[in-house]
Amino acid sequence: MRKMVLAAAGLLMAAGFGASAQQDEPIRQRQDLMKNNQEQIRLLVGMSRGQVPFDAARAQAALRQVEQNARRIHALFPPDSRQGKTDALPVIWERKADFDARAAKLEQDAGAVQAGITDQASLQPALQRIGQTCGGCHETYRRKTT
Ligand code: HEC
Repeated sequence: MRKMVLAAAGLLMAAGFGASAQQDEPIRQRQDLMKNNQEQIRLLVGMSRGQVPFDAARAQAALRQVEQNARRIHALFPPDSRQGKTDALPVIWERKADFDARAAKLEQDAGAVQAGITDQASLQPALQRIGQTCGGCHETYRRKTT
């Protein structure tokens, strides 16, 4: 009986349910999520500089996307995703409550600034606030790539 259970487990592993595939998944997903954050910010910076025509609805939608992304951050850093092709620093899991609070702050900030987006000039303070929240977390929890 025990042998059969082991054999079944072996088959599952072979079918791609192995631990390593599961570990790579959240890393890839959170990196995609962060790239998407970057795209939203790039659009807002472009509008704020007048390189992209100002469009309040579009700017608010970008901030809503950042807000929704932020809501998913905490779940994409499970304890078994420390290793692999990641720039996430181990200190995340030593101070997970603080890390999660920073994700929650991004969600709050991205929500809070939306109503204030009325013209091109209003983008600057919103971007400053969001940028500080992104940068504050990276400063402590992301490996410096430069
Ligand atoms: C709660 C902390 C936190 C917040 C807030 C945060 N990030 Fe990140 N970010 C990280 C961590 C950690 C990584 C490294 C992820 C990895 O490599 O596994 C990262 C990686 C990135 C990357 C590189 C992704 C790649 O290609 O590997 C970009 C770009 C990025 N973040 C942009 C942003 C932007 C823009 C914001 C704000 C809108 C933001 N981040 C907010 C923690 C955060």
